[in-house]
Amino acid sequence: MSRRRILVTSALPYVNAGIHLGYLVEALQTDFWLRFQRLRGHEVRYFCGDDTHGTATMLRAEREGRTPESLLEEMKAAHVADLVGFGVVHDHYGSTHSAANEAFVAEIWSALRAAGCIDEREVTQFYDPEAGIFLADRFVVGGCPRCKSPGQYGDNCEVCGATYEPGDLIDPKSAISGAAPEERSHVHLFVRLEEFHAFLEEWTQAPGRMPPETANWLRGTFLAEPLRDWDVSRPAPYFGFEIPDAPGNYFYVWVDAPIGYIAATREWCDTTGEDLDRWWRDPECEIHHFIGKDIAYFHTLFWPVMLKAAGFQLPKAVHVHGFLTVNGEKMSKRKGTFVLARTYLDHLSPEYLRYYYASKLSSRVDDIDLNFDEFVQKVNADLVGKVVNLASRTARFVKGERLPATYPANRDGGLFAAGAAAGEEIAAAFESLDTSKAMRLVMGLADRANEFVESREPWNLKKDPARAQELLEVCAIALNLFRQITVYLAPVLPRFAEESARLLSLDGGTSWADAARPVEGAIVAKFQHLMERVDPEKVAAMIEASREAAQASEVEAAARGRAGGSGTDAPALAGEPLAPECTIDDFARVDLRVAEILEAKAVPKADKLLELTLSLGGEERRTVFAGIKKAYAPEDLVGRLTVVVANLAPRKMKFGTSEGMVLAAGPGDSELFVLSPDSGAKPGQRIR
Ligand code: MSP
Ligand code: ZN
Repeated sequence: MSRRRILVTSALPYVNAGIHLGYLVEALQTDFWLRFQRLRGHEVRYFCGDDTHGTATMLRAEREGRTPESLLEEMKAAHVADLVGFGVVHDHYGSTHSAANEAFVAEIWSALRAAGCIDEREVTQFYDPEAGIFLADRFVVGGCPRCKSPGQYGDNCEVCGATYEPGDLIDPKSAISGAAPEERSHVHLFVRLEEFHAFLEEWTQAPGRMPPETANWLRGTFLAEPLRDWDVSRPAPYFGFEIPDAPGNYFYVWVDAPIGYIAATREWCDTTGEDLDRWWRDPECEIHHFIGKDIAYFHTLFWPVMLKAAGFQLPKAVHVHGFLTVNGEKMSKRKGTFVLARTYLDHLSPEYLRYYYASKLSSRVDDIDLNFDEFVQKVNADLVGKVVNLASRTARFVKGERLPATYPANRDGGLFAAGAAAGEEIAAAFESLDTSKAMRLVMGLADRANEFVESREPWNLKKDPARAQELLEVCAIALNLFRQITVYLAPVLPRFAEESARLLSLDGGTSWADAARPVEGAIVAKFQHLMERVDPEKVAAMIEASREAAQASEVEAAARGRAGGSGTDAPALAGEPLAPECTIDDFARVDLRVAEILEAKAVPKADKLLELTLSLGGEERRTVFAGIKKAYAPEDLVGRLTVVVANLAPRKMKFGTSEGMVLAAGPGDSELFVLSPDSGAKPGQRIR
């Protein structure tokens, strides 16, 4: 097959959230596919970057009293480090807030203008008179018009699932300032998508363009009727690019976000001397996007229209995956199943997750579930029990020896040849994103290889010096089967393939074809231990750490909206949205008392917790775990008065039981301020 030229992207993570295990589904699926393509010898480049624009970034920078740029820089460095920690390495990781992006946005915009498909009309929207900004739906909160639940966002109700307009909310309030919003109108710019209806019909429905589920969904919904105009502008103030020919108006974040793919390529071209047109204006180049199902319509309706209008190459395929659930449920901060990439890496090896996701993913748009029991069991049974075991129980018998000059193909029961023959089926599975099938096929090879080793009992051969030749042969076969398996696993577990090459003193990079060529005459090096079993205790510690992190920043998390971590447009008022209204009776149920901190000590192994011993007057002592370790040295707290929720139900934590909660203000981590009464207050007094 001729050498393909392939440009690959993953969706740009929102700058306002950390990389979490959900985004890793996408990043790893992309990584498996592109590493597979590289092993097959194709020319592959991978681009991504941070999605930076929108009201949320602006508000957060304001709240933290810094420039958006410094925020962006810090978040980008963290995102890249997290992804690299999982073996996800881009050719370039850019940002939508870049000069390159602004230039492409302008170029595409003028092409849309030239095509005559831009309209202007007035849009009436809620406006926050205090903050002086128009409010996106997610920045308006109020009562659900259907079930009356308080504190719901302006687009849908998280309690009953109703969808509505912000104007339908009961007693709507701005999530930014709490002010009652006013209706105001402003001119917006629209792209008339309907002019591209026939093109989209053809492009989206082409076989292989996207999963059939997605293509059918588009045909049955959006494409079944005239396409609605797309509102692409937002009035100032907005953190983004100003529209060149409409001052005071900014491009909506979803205009410049996908253009960030091109901008990242441009920046890479500028440092490597590559030609951008070879990647974005050449029909010979295949463009592959990897995205989640929630953003499919941006990539399959708006994006192709922008590319087409400006004469860029259209994507060959948009690969759509489902959402990650954990233990069968949506990721939950409270349960500790909203796990950040960094927290995972603090506890567990990235290879475990790479293998587990590979074993779960297919080309379908179905959600995938991370079940921690299955995770432990699968990694231990397959990787440690089957693959690593194959090498660990044979390599040591032949350390430092030379393998036979010719692979004993007539003595392996046809296993190596069968493994080589399976190569195309495994490749087809990788090509079509069916990594679960690829993993199944590879584990089948590992099973047969292990059966071979068991039947030949090298450990017994070792005891009989007269059978040294036979031992060498058995080990040569086992190590070659191991090598073959690690080549097939290389897209998922690249380090395994490297280690197996080192074990057999091979130099040079691995290629897919290596799986069909036995290694002959090589010296067997010392076996390096490849992988430890997953320790379920570490999984538990990771969940506890995630729960702890979530607790410490609970308020902040609420301000950011959905658990998916998405939320460029999520409300983030002076920190946080107002909690649902409570009555004076509700408040009276909370018993707040003055307490004196008698002792404070750091909880080892918990990066946020201090253990406090409190006096509530008289003999009454309480132990309370407080997430303030990053903000206070324990000795600074001793002797100080504070306020405690005294009737909070005791909470069992990993380190002991917490009998109350100390009150503090601030967003969390190092920025927390413990509350104290004025002097004169006495431990035990009630706060009212
Ligand atoms: N910034 C936009 C994408 C712009 S692309 C031009 C965005 N960002 S996101 O951070 O919310 O999501 C990035 C990608 O991660 C999306 O493809 C999304 O579907 C995916 N995922 C986010 N949470 C996810 C899960 N819980 N599970 C699987 N994928 C998830 O959308
Ligand atoms: Zn409701």
